[in-house]
Amino acid sequence: MSMQPATRLCMANIAGGAGKTFLTLSIGAALARQGYRVAVLDMDAQASATKWVGLHDDRSSPGLDPERTAGVVFRVDEPSDAILPDPIRVQDFDLWPANDGIIRDVAPNITADSFRMGNLREALRKREMDYDFILIDTQPGRSADLPAAVVAADHVLVPVCDVKGLENLQKLVTLIKGGRAYAPNLQLRMFIPNKYQAHRRMSRRELELLQGYESVAVIAPPVRLGDLARSIQEDHRSIFDIDPKAGITQDIVELAHFIVKTFRPLQQPVGAASQEVAG
Ligand SMILES: Nc1ncnc2c1ncn2[C@@H]1O[C@H](COP(=O)(O)OP(=O)(O)OP(=O)(O)O)[C@@H](O)[C@H]1O
Ligand SMILES: [Mg+2]
Repeated sequence: MSMQPATRLCMANIAGGAGKTFLTLSIGAALARQGYRVAVLDMDAQASATKWVGLHDDRSSPGLDPERTAGVVFRVDEPSDAILPDPIRVQDFDLWPANDGIIRDVAPNITADSFRMGNLREALRKREMDYDFILIDTQPGRSADLPAAVVAADHVLVPVCDVKGLENLQKLVTLIKGGRAYAPNLQLRMFIPNKYQAHRRMSRRELELLQGYESVAVIAPPVRLGDLARSIQEDHRSIFDIDPKAGITQDIVELAHFIVKTFRPLQQPVGAASQEVAG
């Protein structure tokens, strides 16, 4: 077990559809394959991540159980009493699923008592030695669910597929500043250009425009537009299981390396270290 607490990353963009869910699941899969211990937390009431891994297919699935979502932590007054249920093992990582429990437990409880905003952060702290990376997927828009998820993390990653998606950036920056009451080190850390098309001038122009935001946060290597992003939704397998050689899969590998270099420069994954010894 690592001596370093988990790096907690939150995917957020107030504008919808930029690739939060696709990137959360695929980066999670990539980090797990590199030997890191990964947990994914689905904080989106749409439950896309939970559905894409197949946990809404069967009516008896634990993915549909409101008692299994991270929303339960908002039922208690004292952040120190906030305890996460056991996550569900899927693909190569642990997942806290989303379902109607998120709708029932998150926004209404925070609205009733805003002091509960930090409950998820406290609950995750109790799990922080169990993982190297905890990835949080959020919903678009600006309901109370978003700050509750964001303040559970230390670093915010923003997928961007066209610069128009940054129109709401100032709102996110304001939300992050406010979130420091709960998470003092909370930062917008990375833009991830997604659905990139190197042969298209439009796409290259978008990337140049994004580079204008380099003073706000680091720009990750782009992830190309690729059919696999849609395939994982129906297939319920990771991009690595469907096509490890695809260009988009390679982009995700590179992105995961970039994330490790950015957030955990000194740590070798447990799996990789033991493989080296064995080899
Ligand atoms: N690199 C990519 N190439 C092709 N399609 C992609 C890529 N990334 C995401 N998509 C597709 O774009 C759509 C939106 O992606 P995704 O659902 O991950 O975005 P999101 O930010 O989570 O959306 P929401 O705001 O609704 O939660 C999905 O159909 C997804 O499969
Ligand atoms: Mg999503």
